[in-house]
Order: sequence, then C-alpha cells, then structure tokens
Amino acid sequence: MNRSKAIINTKNIRHNLRIIREKSGTKIIGIVKANGYGTGINEISKVLRDEGVEMLGVPYVHEAQGLREKGDKGEILLTGTLSEDEVEEVINLDLQVCTVNINVLRSLNEAAKCKNKKALLHIFVDTGMNREGVKPHNLEAFIVVLKTFEHLKIVGCLTHLISSDDKDKTQTKNQIAEFSNALDKIEKAFGKLEYIHTHNSAAIFNEIESPSNFSRPGIAIYGFLPTRELQSKSDLKPSLKLVSEVSLVKHVSKGETVGYSNKYIAKNDITIALIPFGYGHGFPWALSNCGSFSIKNKSCKIVGSVCMDFTMVDISGLDVSVGDEVIIMGDGITGDSIYDISEKANTIPYEIITHLLPRLDRVYI
Ligand SMILES: Cc1ncc(COP(=O)(O)O)c(C=O)c1O
Repeated sequence: MNRSKAIINTKNIRHNLRIIREKSGTKIIGIVKANGYGTGINEISKVLRDEGVEMLGVPYVHEAQGLREKGDKGEILLTGTLSEDEVEEVINLDLQVCTVNINVLRSLNEAAKCKNKKALLHIFVDTGMNREGVKPHNLEAFIVVLKTFEHLKIVGCLTHLISSDDKDKTQTKNQIAEFSNALDKIEKAFGKLEYIHTHNSAAIFNEIESPSNFSRPGIAIYGFLPTRELQSKSDLKPSLKLVSEVSLVKHVSKGETVGYSNKYIAKNDITIALIPFGYGHGFPWALSNCGSFSIKNKSCKIVGSVCMDFTMVDISGLDVSVGDEVIIMGDGITGDSIYDISEKANTIPYEIITHLLPRLDRVYI
C-alpha cells in the first residue's frame, strides 16, 4: 500500500469551475497540461467535460493523444508549437492548433487536403511575451500566406498575458489593446471568429477587460492562483492535499546528525518521525531544514535534508505513533499551503504541483 497520496477533491474542482465561469462570463478552455497540473489529466478532464467545459487545452500532441486514447471526444486545442512530423496525428486526432510556423502550417494544410478535411487554426498573436505566436508587425504578411492554405480554417485568435497577476494593469491593458487591433485585422480577413481568448487564471480574477468569448484557466481550476493575495480574495477552493503517514519514530541524542551530509546537528535530545515522502515524490529538496509537515495539527520542522524517499521531522514533545497521518501540503491552517511551500522553496506554486510524480497515489474524492 502506498502511504503517500495526493488527495484530489473533485467537488472543489467543480466548484472552482463554476466560480471561473461566473467571474469570466465566457466559455472555457480548461488547461490540463502537465498531468492536469499534477492532479491527473484523465480524471480531471472527465470532471471538466462532465461540467460542460467546451474545450480542453494542452501544449503537446502527445498529451492530446493520451486524452483521445482515454476516450475524450470533445474539442481539444493544442496551445503549443507543432512539428512537421506531427501534422498527420493532428488531423487523425481532430485537434485544433495555434502554431504560427509557416512550414508546419503548409504541411498541415497538405495533410488535411489528403484526408479531405479542414484543419482548424487559432491565430496566436504575440503581444509581448516573445514566446508562441506571430508578432503584430508580421501579422499582415502571415494572413497573406494563410489565405493560400485552402484546407486551413481560421476559427480563433488568442494571446497570452505576461503579468496578469500584477496590481498594475498597464502592461496587460497594452497587450489587450494590441490584441484587439490584431483581432480586427484577422476578422476583416477571415470573417467573425468562433473562439477569441486572452485570459489565463490571474486575468480572470484580476478583473481585466477583454474582447474574448473564451478563457483559458489552468491553475484556478485546481483552486489556486499565482499569488497568495489573489487567491485569498477569490472564492476558489484548493482541490489538492498531500498526505502521508509516520513510518518510524526514533530518538536522536544531542550532537547526533540527521540525514545526508550532516546538514542537521541536534542541539538537544530530540524525537524524530520518518515520513515516506521525499523529493522522489515531488517535494522540494530546497525545504531541507526549513519546511514543516503537520502531524496531529502541530507543525513539525523538517530536520536534515529531504531525501528521495523520506523526510525526517522533529516531533519532540508530541504524542506521535507509527501510522499517524501527516499533512505534507494542506490549506495553510492545517498543514502548510502551496504558498507556504513555494515561498520557502523560492519558487512558484505551479512548480510545486506540476512536480508531483507518478509514484504518488492520486485519490479522488
Ligand atoms: C497558452 C496558455 N494559456 C493558458 C494557460 C493557463 O495559465 P494559468 O495556469 O495561469 O491559468 C497557460 C499556462 O501556462 C498557457 O501557457
């Protein structure tokens, strides 16, 4: 039996989706990449489809392929780039794409022609991120080439926001203005579009205006936002809890060390518990000697370095036995929150959950 689990609360996922719909007033492209932000792409996608999510979004063909293999028949958008050797699969799997690589689009057009189909394209406008998308000053030339591809149908337009979690909305407003200009040009060239989308999770909760009819929330679906402040002002409910149990209790005498490389030296006699949860489950090694787990509602400091399979915590003075529940990540009241962990690890909340490894059992409630 696996003692370490990610408990995913699907009721909270459903609740979050309703909040996102209310807040955005748009249809939803649910972003389920990176194994559904660590929660399990197939299970979460089923919940989202059941809630009527109009489209799912992943960057890579192999992620979409996995969804199709598990029986997902709904609309899927590939938000990432594409290679020429993937275009046939795109047609076979009936995926919508955002790539702006002309050679790939030419191949996609050919592949669609061979199957007597039309490939559906959302034009990704790069309004400043300098990642995916066509830059506005290249848009007109891009449109001219696109017009020659008879088996591509332009159905959507999107951009990605750089700093939508920022209190200062100037950069986001500039991006949206740039996007609106591009949208006008695209609709003049190809007619009214069915899918117009700019907003990630933070933009939805930071109340930013946009000409969109779809949003692309990722992290909000799972109950989190990029910052603690934004999350605390929202009605989102965290859907993910990490738990384990005590597997051994031992006494450490003053002057003894704990774990690899003598990173902890006991200043007094202490009692420690061995918890079968380590960086080999996705817990950050950076929390060595500075993180904490919760046992019986008490915060127990990590002593020594986090190991691949185990972490040791100080339980001195507590009545703790083998088998007691340990909260690795909780809601911040019982157990450190995703924000407590990511801040101590000097990273972002996204990294904490997308690093959860397959070795961890995922339990859906
Ligand atoms: C293109 C695109 N859209 C939407 C999202 C969802 O972002 P978030 O998880 O911040 O809502 C991402 C995630 O990075 C993305 O790359």
